[in-house]
Amino acid sequence: MALGKPRREGIDNPAQKSHCTLIRNVFRLVGREVEGSTLIGSDVAIEGVSKSFGDFRALNNVSLTIQKGEFFSLLGPSGCGKTTLLRIIAGFESPDDGAVTFDGNDVLGLPPNRRQANTVFQNYALFPHLSVFENVAFPLRLRKLPRSQADSQVKEYLRLVQLEAHAHKKPNQLSGGQKQRVAIARALINKPRVLLLDEPLSALDAKLRQHMLIELDQIHDKIGITFIYVTHDQQEALSVSDHIAVMDQGDVLQVGTPHEIYESPATNFVARFIGETNLYDGKVLGVNKLPHVETEYMVELEIAELGRVKVTTVDEVKPGQKVNFTVRPEKIMITTDKPASKREDINHFQGTVDEPIYSGFQTKFYVKVNDTAMIRVIKQHANYSDEGPDIVWKDSVYLSWSANDGYILGIKE
Ligand SMILES: Nc1ncnc2c1ncn2[C@@H]1O[C@H](COP(=O)(O)OP(=O)(O)O)[C@@H](O)[C@H]1O
Ligand SMILES: [Mg+2]
Repeated sequence: MALGKPRREGIDNPAQKSHCTLIRNVFRLVGREVEGSTLIGSDVAIEGVSKSFGDFRALNNVSLTIQKGEFFSLLGPSGCGKTTLLRIIAGFESPDDGAVTFDGNDVLGLPPNRRQANTVFQNYALFPHLSVFENVAFPLRLRKLPRSQADSQVKEYLRLVQLEAHAHKKPNQLSGGQKQRVAIARALINKPRVLLLDEPLSALDAKLRQHMLIELDQIHDKIGITFIYVTHDQQEALSVSDHIAVMDQGDVLQVGTPHEIYESPATNFVARFIGETNLYDGKVLGVNKLPHVETEYMVELEIAELGRVKVTTVDEVKPGQKVNFTVRPEKIMITTDKPASKREDINHFQGTVDEPIYSGFQTKFYVKVNDTAMIRVIKQHANYSDEGPDIVWKDSVYLSWSANDGYILGIKE
């Protein structure tokens, strides 16, 4: 997903219409017809899907709705059930309970090759003795498509993944990224409505991963089918997805846009798993309704390690309630001079730099406050400084952040 890319929600959305036009044009270009004006991917719905292996419950009543043409990611730590869910969607595994539908049609009775979904695996699974061309042609040869027709389609898909010049090579003459592109072309050539990708980039080094991710996103934009992408890497998921489902131990904890997942995590686990954060136990001291805002409250919390913290929330909380409080490191301002602002909604703390970690474009500071709390702060180096870092180890510093930038989650009784 690129910044400013049209959202794919709602057929009356003008942005989506222009997206459809773009896709139709691309398909005309490659000599193919697309019926109607809708995206050619499928809606995928997962309803109450559970799966156990012996006594172990790998998926726990999972429900998700994935819209046609979306780039949808399943994100979670290793072992949380992502591959199991993907294999159930693909048809390699059956759920114990629940339903899976493509465009409203039950697919659980169908074998993988009749589901109009195709999978790209982490290990590429190419045929080593076949050329790039024949690897991509393989699904068409199986269908006994006339050779001239098949060959022109193979060329089209090799062009899509920019491998025309390597058509004659064998897989062992290709780089990791090129092998992955062959696997993608082969998965796409049967024109599936859903492409399932299971950690497809995890075997590549970091630089190449970034590059392939952008390519994948561009391919997705061009062909307009539904992508369901499994990853344990939050950066990958945040940068390309239209929506993300965050999973842990067989449960879906939150589904949202990358922005929603990052800025409004639904649980402590999501807050910790996505990006870095400061997370504390707190108790509600007081609640005030904010004037002029329909549902927002200004809350004062008591946090044992920190003291009093002001935070806004849309949730109704009561004095005495126990909650969790989180604030992202990049939302906290760090200065050596005392901030001049006297605004009521700004939190101020004083501390000492315990550890500065410089990484060129930014520095991460661990700041000790009250001898009891360690607050992480990230400062971007937006301006050039030729006098070296302005905040160093052992410096006495001021931290401040707006009540709007903190977040209450995990409300307990
Ligand atoms: N065929 C199987 N037999 C037994 N346990 C399995 C099987 N497949 C997966 N599991 C278990 O289910 C859990 C989820 O696995 P998986 O879906 O592969 O997780 P992920 O892809 O998120 O890393 C893991 O604990 C794994 O060991
Ligand atoms: Mg997996």
